[in-house]
Amino acid sequence: MTAQKSDAPVNPKWTRMLTGDRPTGALHLGHYVGSLKMRVELQEKIDTFVLIADLHVLTTRNANLDEIGPNIRECVLDYLAVGIDPDKSTIYLQSLVPEVLELFWLFMPLVSVPRAQRIPTLKEQVRDLKLETASMALLSYPVLQSADILMVRGDVVPVGKDQASHVELTREIARRFNQTYGEVFPEPEAPLTPVLIGTDGQAKASKSIGNVIMLSDPPDVVEKKVRAMFTDPKRIRADIPGTVEGNPVFIYHEEFNDDQDEVAGLADRYRQGKVGDVEVKTKLAAAINRFLDPIRDRREKFAAKKGLVEEIIEAGSARAREECHQTLEAAREAMGLTYFRGGDGVEVSK
Ligand code: TRP
Repeated sequence: MTAQKSDAPVNPKWTRMLTGDRPTGALHLGHYVGSLKMRVELQEKIDTFVLIADLHVLTTRNANLDEIGPNIRECVLDYLAVGIDPDKSTIYLQSLVPEVLELFWLFMPLVSVPRAQRIPTLKEQVRDLKLETASMALLSYPVLQSADILMVRGDVVPVGKDQASHVELTREIARRFNQTYGEVFPEPEAPLTPVLIGTDGQAKASKSIGNVIMLSDPPDVVEKKVRAMFTDPKRIRADIPGTVEGNPVFIYHEEFNDDQDEVAGLADRYRQGKVGDVEVKTKLAAAINRFLDPIRDRREKFAAKKGLVEEIIEAGSARAREECHQTLEAAREAMGLTYFRGGDGVEVSK
């Protein structure tokens, strides 16, 4: 049993994908629908880089930094559990590729302060996190993300709507760099990925809101969360006809139930007022647990292998670093920054 294929269009021109997550904890079904599913499919077809953006965490946080390490581990375990294969995808840690900070700095002069201030996520973050003001790091967040993307010269970056403005800036930076110094970077495309509604039916699934089912939630927790899910509020009795469209319980059924005949039957009876919410939800919890069972099993197996996560991160980061070193050299060369680099200037002794 597998989940349905994602509807994301795959452009045959794409050769290299980069996606990433900030390591803020374990991943949930929203991540699965929004990006993990597409990564697992695309890794079979194109070169795939998966970045764990630990430096980005510092833009909004200056306490509890000791949680980042364990969070990185959770993140990698979730990747492995859903089928991201380190032999096919390069999973790497941002801070183990410090070259990205140099590229970031080379990009900084190409972005004006008002341009950075206009990026919508900046105001949202300041508002949501109740910050007094944005730090320089938060202001430059999308420039660092641009460096992540252009560093591996990815031509496709599947992102949710909230990240689209960052990829737009990336495209601008690539264009401006190429016009100013010479052709080094591709302008990446950013196909929009699907968004999963939260279990509360009010907002997208988001850990900070707490309306999510984690990939690592045990079966009884899944049952409890499904029982509490928002559904058609007008339906106070099982014999009242209900609305299926936009109903989170049915959205999850369609996304995760491997028995779509069952879903069609339930939807029919729901519309006619011939099924109780309890039955719909019990079947949903069972379906989600069928979907999560193999993921939880694999997660447990990987978690038990001592040193595995560390090995994957180290190998992936070494591979990414090689790639990034070449990009950085190409950028420096285009800019004429070859002094003390064995160019026209003085050879540096090793
Ligand atoms: N900003 C992304 C997020 O919040 C994480 C991220 C950092 C990223 N660098 C990236 C995503 C590069 C895609 C590509 O989820």
